[in-house]
Amino acid sequence: MNVSEAMSLPPSTTLTREDLKQFSVLSGIAKSDAGLVIPVEKAPMLFARLNKRLRALGITSRSEYCRLVSSPNGKSERKELISTLTTNVTSFFRENHHFETLIRELETNLAPKVRSGEGLRFWSAGCSTGPEAYSIAMVVLEKIPDASNLDIRILATDIDSNVLNTAREGIFDDSQTDLISPNRRNRFFSKNHDDSTNSTTFQVNKELRNLVTFRNLNLLDEWPMRRGFDAIFCRNVVIYFDKITQHDLWPRFENSCLPGGLLFLGHSERLDELYTGDFHACGTTTYRRAMTNCRRKD
Ligand SMILES: C[S@@+](CC[C@H](N)C(=O)[O-])C[C@H]1O[C@@H](n2cnc3c(N)ncnc32)[C@H](O)[C@@H]1O
Repeated sequence: MNVSEAMSLPPSTTLTREDLKQFSVLSGIAKSDAGLVIPVEKAPMLFARLNKRLRALGITSRSEYCRLVSSPNGKSERKELISTLTTNVTSFFRENHHFETLIRELETNLAPKVRSGEGLRFWSAGCSTGPEAYSIAMVVLEKIPDASNLDIRILATDIDSNVLNTAREGIFDDSQTDLISPNRRNRFFSKNHDDSTNSTTFQVNKELRNLVTFRNLNLLDEWPMRRGFDAIFCRNVVIYFDKITQHDLWPRFENSCLPGGLLFLGHSERLDELYTGDFHACGTTTYRRAMTNCRRKD
């Protein structure tokens, strides 16, 4: 089989036994290592995404790749595989109503809290290339202009090291920043124009960058953070997990959230009907942890 035969699989193609075997190996790793559920209908998408990786490695067949990621030597390649299979779509001020809620929270509770000498902690869990964390930082700085001199931190985590590198760099092109208001773009970004490619990029400024720490973290692993968060954003991440994995995460988010703190989920994600903990809906896909522990014992 040549490279293109081994790699190309148009969406209309019927899967062969060999395709199904390879799909089973690769989707099995996605599930066990990252919690990602990839239905068999998405096999063509999975193989298409893999093609680029195979080319980069100079591997000419999927079966060879499957052997590599299944072997003890394939541990680091499994991380690359997960990076290849994650969906990293994101944008600044995505689902803007959450940022409006955060602004109200800053005005009513969090700014007075930090002024009284307490710290503030925010978490963007599954942050992708960073727009969510930087959007949090922008509204924090708007409501607390001296935030840089106070005990305020935004933690942004993702399983995918490649997107974290982009996030740390903080350079976004024109189209990624055009939903940011001109005021915010002028205040929080520096503009660079490259004459040779006639392209414009925007880099987050130091003030914004200094509030955010990017870290590699698989949500399925132990979480090393010891301090509770005032607000957790975990949006458009658990949608790729099955119900059991989601259900295991809710109490962990609850433990990581301070009493009275907020949890924001993505537009098609919900705390399910089996959840009986301390988070209560207080807006669209927005939950507030009760001030006192009222977790029901099952
Ligand atoms: C669609 S993006 C969402 C980005 C951002 N939260 C937003 O809503 O714009 C999903 C992100 O979740 C990350 N992710 C997927 N599985 C993960 C896991 N097990 N642990 C941590 N991050 C994960 C992916 O790498 C990806 O960057």
